Amino acid sequence: MAEQHSVPRHIAIVMDGNGRWASKRFLPRIAGHNKGVETLKRIVSACPSRKIDTVTVFAFSSENWNRPVEEVSGLMDILAMALSREVPKLQRDGVRLRFIGSREGLSARVKKGLEDAEAATASNSVLSLNVCFNYGGRWDIATAAARLAASGTPITEESLSQALSLAFCSDPDLVIRTGHEMRLSNFLLWQTAYSELYFSELLWPDFDEAALDAALLDYASRERRFGKTSDQLSGNSAAKA
Ligand code: FPP
Repeated sequence: MAEQHSVPRHIAIVMDGNGRWASKRFLPRIAGHNKGVETLKRIVSACPSRKIDTVTVFAFSSENWNRPVEEVSGLMDILAMALSREVPKLQRDGVRLRFIGSREGLSARVKKGLEDAEAATASNSVLSLNVCFNYGGRWDIATAAARLAASGTPITEESLSQALSLAFCSDPDLVIRTGHEMRLSNFLLWQTAYSELYFSELLWPDFDEAALDAALLDYASRERRFGKTSDQLSGNSAAKA
């Protein structure tokens, strides 16, 4: 029997295009990020009814520190404000929030906001929302390898997987990137080895439930072979062997 993968349990999203969305409207880039938070709320709310149980989003990369200082501080403010405003609703909706990434370089205010939000939502189980913040896939792999080396643990695929920051959940089934760019940009480099990739031309603030459904429909048409052949998956290999 071919494995059924019609619904992704874990989707990961590169929320690209906020800056262009704002520029097209002669607005400061930060207005695009604010609108991006609204989109994120809509998409997170839409996931449980679509049987998605984990969403991982790329909110601030290790490289985003290189952006203009006002955009970086604007993103930090947006995060702090979104947390103080949204955690009660996430609580009501059963969403467990986790922040994935280095805490180095974050202000005491932001760090406390992340810790409080994680603690407040720790017992929720309807949906896991992993927010990659000050995160890079290379950082994650290098940090995990250094930790294993320091403890004298042999580095194998299994031990490295278990040392990564997303070891608590399954790998993403589907990666969605908006904004018409077709690259991973240092997002979940290890975990996306067999993820299906979907690129949307929409800018993230314009992404909505219909766009999510289009991505899910596309995903349902994919055959996930994980290195095997179609015949092996459909059980025809024995006949041919
Ligand atoms: C990429 O668009 C987006 C980001 C770097 C930030 C994404 C953040 C949000 C959607 C807000 C949610 C954030 C938090 C803090 C929870 P871009 O700025 O690279 O857009 P561009 O490619 O059009 O310039």
